[in-house]
Amino acid sequence: MSTILNDEKIPNNVNLGGDKRLQRALEAWQPHFIDWWKQMGPTGWQERDIYLRTATSVEANGWAHFDYVKMPDYRWGIFLEPKDPNRVHAFGDNMGQPVWDEVPGEFRNSLRRLIVTQGDTEPASVEQQRDLGATAPSLYDLRNLFQVNVEEGRHLWAMVYLLHTYFGRDGREEAEELLARRSGDADKPRILGAFNEPTSHWLSFFMFTMFTDRDGKYQLSALAESGFDPLARTCRFMLTEEAHHMFVGESGVQRVVKRACELMKADPNGDVRAQRGIDLPTVQKYLHLWYSLSLDLFGGEVSSNAADAFASGLKGRYKEDRYDEHKLVGSHFAMDVLEAGKVVHKDIPMRNALNEVLRTEYIKDCQRGVDRWNKTIKDEGVEFVITLPSNKFHRQIGMWSGQYFSPTGEQLDEATWNASKGAWLPNDADETYIKSLMKPVYERAKMASWIAPPAKGINGLPEDFEYVRV
Ligand SMILES: [Fe+2]
Ligand SMILES: [Fe+2]
Repeated sequence: MSTILNDEKIPNNVNLGGDKRLQRALEAWQPHFIDWWKQMGPTGWQERDIYLRTATSVEANGWAHFDYVKMPDYRWGIFLEPKDPNRVHAFGDNMGQPVWDEVPGEFRNSLRRLIVTQGDTEPASVEQQRDLGATAPSLYDLRNLFQVNVEEGRHLWAMVYLLHTYFGRDGREEAEELLARRSGDADKPRILGAFNEPTSHWLSFFMFTMFTDRDGKYQLSALAESGFDPLARTCRFMLTEEAHHMFVGESGVQRVVKRACELMKADPNGDVRAQRGIDLPTVQKYLHLWYSLSLDLFGGEVSSNAADAFASGLKGRYKEDRYDEHKLVGSHFAMDVLEAGKVVHKDIPMRNALNEVLRTEYIKDCQRGVDRWNKTIKDEGVEFVITLPSNKFHRQIGMWSGQYFSPTGEQLDEATWNASKGAWLPNDADETYIKSLMKPVYERAKMASWIAPPAKGINGLPEDFEYVRV
């Protein structure tokens, strides 16, 4: 199953050369992808040498190759985890039966929708982040940004491979549409809300990679359980790359927080902004924003779509094998729901609650990251605690949308919300201040004033390595 970076036009471990029709179709899509990359990918850095990781196989030891590469020459490839010939449906109504190698006719539309929705997020995030290279706080961070960007490009390839291989002409059309929608565009927006929000500075970028990429982890994990085996196999490998994106986010915020603490202690009044840092209350506001946008990505709290996707074996739970029961007929999930405008805690049939079940796992994972930030603050001897807001706060999708809740989950009237939201979410002044800090630092071993250096470099290299040849 191993495929070292080969000299085929499209590196792959799916024996693309053995299916000439498919190979031709993907080779025809490739120049469209490159055009999109040049037009909508990172602005201004396409001709520079960047020290990047490229996936070359799926072997646990040595799946990646690190070297300088110009981004348009990046070897975007197609890599699926090896097939387990004995794999069976691990959940749902088909449990115990062999998994599918082809798309079952009755689930064709729902599967295509799942793949397109996931696929759409990948180029969307590249578009959202395309101008950040102009204001990177260090060469190390600049390189990490581009690493995330090229891998999101590869994730798009992963979904396009499935569309081209298994969905015929519809799939090819969807693959073209994935290059035609634009993040934030009024006429042709990306499919999901958070992927149309501007990521206009590095604090938002770190929050995005912490919280929004982590939604990706949970969606991919649920699809990695799919009874449609090619989808499961491609998602499993995508998760390997995704881990680095969340590292960029979690460690990025951690360094902002550490710097804030250092500056608080350095100033007699503890004034972080006076020293061009990002104060902890502002960090908290951006967390409120990106966390709530990311919670929306899990969909409605009570959902018949979620029930159907589970019943038919298309989408499982996070780490399905950790559960004892995999059919979920007759079981319930206790959760808050809205009834006649009031919050009530009640039992919901489990299959219908699966979006909320996945969201609950995600929230626990986010909390672990926030705990590590709080440990940094404590270690610095500063008294401040960063918190995740209530899952009802600032929601635009699902049953809490159109309602008003404080970060602690207290239900509010609209007037109170309007009077308070500027203290909870970034206001214009915060956004202007953060943007005023965004000045590029392209000298080796130098960092912007508002962020602490990383604990270590990339791939065992020193922190002052020339990660980008400016
Ligand atoms: Fe991705
Ligand atoms: Fe990602």
